[in-house]
Formats: sequence, C-alpha cells, structure tokens
Amino acid sequence: MNGPPNPIGLLAELTYRCPLACPYCSNPLELERREDELDTATWARVFAEAAELGVLQVHLSGGEPASRRDLVEITQAASGAGLYTNLITSAVGLPAATLRRLKAAGLDHVQLSIQDIGRASSDHIAGYEGAYDRKLAFAGAVTGLGMALTLNVVIHRANIGNLAALVELAESLGAGRVEIAHAQYYGWALRNRDALMPTRDQVDEAMREMDRARQRLEGRIAIDFVVPDYYARRPKPCVGGWGRRTLNVTPSGVVLPCHAAQTIPGLSFWSVRDYPLAEIWRRSPAFEAFRGTGWMQEPCRSCAYREQDFGGCRCQALAIAGDAAATDPSCELSPVHSRMPAIAGQAAGSDGSYLYRGR
Ligand code: SF4
Ligand code: FES
Repeated sequence: MNGPPNPIGLLAELTYRCPLACPYCSNPLELERREDELDTATWARVFAEAAELGVLQVHLSGGEPASRRDLVEITQAASGAGLYTNLITSAVGLPAATLRRLKAAGLDHVQLSIQDIGRASSDHIAGYEGAYDRKLAFAGAVTGLGMALTLNVVIHRANIGNLAALVELAESLGAGRVEIAHAQYYGWALRNRDALMPTRDQVDEAMREMDRARQRLEGRIAIDFVVPDYYARRPKPCVGGWGRRTLNVTPSGVVLPCHAAQTIPGLSFWSVRDYPLAEIWRRSPAFEAFRGTGWMQEPCRSCAYREQDFGGCRCQALAIAGDAAATDPSCELSPVHSRMPAIAGQAAGSDGSYLYRGR
C-alpha cells in the first residue's frame, strides 16, 4: 500500500490544566480551555481509531492528566482498545487510591516527573510547595503495586549538576528507566531560556557523568540522556521524522505532528471532531507539509543523513533560522549553525529569574 507508514505512538494531551508551574513547560503559551476539552466518549473513539491505524502505545499526558476527573475511564478505554498505556504524571493530585483504580483499568506503565534532588530546589522549580514529598510517596505506591516506573527529569542550569544524585534517586525508588532530557525551548520554556540554559562546561560534565552512570547500572536501569540541541553538532530526528511515527492529540482534539507544530504559521491542522484519525494521518495538510524528504532545501536535500534525522526539528528551524523548511540549525552543516552556541552562550551567561507557567 502506498502512503505514509502507520504511526506507532499517540500522545494524548488530555488537558493543559496542571497544579505545577514549571518554567521549562513546553506547552503552548495560549492554553486551550477546560470547556473545550474532548469528552470521555470522544477519547474512547480516538483510541479505537488509533489502534485500528496501527498505534501500539498511548501516552496519557498533559498538563497533568490527573486533572481530568475521568482519567480512570479514559485509561480503561485506551487499554480496552488494545493499546499499551503509559501515564506521564507529576503525581500531584493523584492519590494512591486513584493509582490502584488506574491499575485495575489496565494502566501498564507510569512515568513520574521529578524536578531536582531535594525538597527545596525541586519545589522551587515546580512552583509548588510539597510536590517533592508527594512524588517520592507516589513512586513508592507505583512500585508497591508492582507497576513499571520511569523517572523523567527535565534538565537545565539549576539541576544539571545533580544528575548522578538523580540517577541514584531513581535507583532507590525502584525505577527501571530514567529519561533525562534537556529543556526544549518552546512555549514557556522559550520565555525562560535565559534562566534555564546551562553552560557548555556543565553539559560536557553531564555527558561524562551519564557515561559513568550507564556503565555502573548496565543491565539494571536504562538511562536515556538527550543532549541539549544548542550545544549539539548533529540534529535529532525530531518525533522520529515528521508524520512518520507519532501523532499528538491536543486537549480540544486538534491533531499535531509534534507538540510545538502550532508555532509554525500557515499549517492547517485537522481535528478528531471533524475527521477520523486515519484520514488526518494520511491526508491532512499539516502532516503532509514536512513528511518524507521532498520538502527539503540544501544542505539537507542532498545529504547522506536525510533519511536518518529527517533534517532535525521543524519548529527549531523556524525559531532560530526563521524558516520551518530550513535545515535544523543544530546541524553543523546549517548555514546559521553558529547562532545556536551564540544564543546558548549569551543565555547561559545571564541570570534570568523564572517566569512561572500559569495554572
Ligand atoms: Fe541532517 Fe540536514 Fe544536517 Fe544532513 S544537512 S545532517 S540531513 S540536518
Ligand atoms: Fe516540532 Fe521538533 S518540536 S518538529
């Protein structure tokens, strides 16, 4: 059959509501309203259509997904559709009793975000007093139920020096995996770039630290470490290539190729309220815009890596090069590659204070 390959993952952004106010949040600046959120039955239909389309995993995300009162029913619908269900949560507003109901509803995996080591710093970054203690208790509840746990850490200037301790924390909490990713500068995070950007020395030390941790924990805990784009020489295949592997559904039902796609002007996004998911995936203009390699300019167009990294990130190309179809400036072959370390150096040398995300 001609046409795009089937997606394997769906990010279900159930709500943008969240009790935390993290300055690195990459949700849009203009948050969709609660009244516009999809209802339970529509999510159930989306999950059934996703499974039919070939999706294997659904990530129940937000905002904070536990802000939805129907999270258990939504989870049940996803699991009932045959999807592997992963909950991405801050743990705030998610009591152990609800976790037990989620497990009974078929939840397969929990990803818990943690902001830093220690109560004071972690709660300061989250903008929420008491969050750290709740997270530790929640992690115990997850493993106590025999569920798989991944610890997520978004790193930036304030916590990048604590990676070894964060990995040790994951170990002590019984996590099977740690995902350490640098802040992605979209939405609120872009506003906070000066306050968040680490120095190159910090990044280099973090990479050495992660090599040591990987060796020490080999076969026990998997560690995913994503290097910050601003100090990289080659881009990552953002979202596995535009319209190739994954799709995002926003709280109101708009289907996006990536979480920041709405920052790109001129793209037309379709909604699950109007079209079946398969039609959106195969035919919607936004998915077609940067699918494959036909849209590429030089140097990507004739580059040997074009089928590996797909030219990097379209949203970053727009933000830094001013053109969503340009080579991702994190690539050293980009004509504007030098802007990345220049911006990073300037940001890392400033002392911005956090602008917290509105709740
Ligand atoms: Fe990837 Fe384009 Fe850079 Fe080649 S020029 S490595 S395809 S981003
Ligand atoms: Fe949009 Fe990378 S975040 S393509």
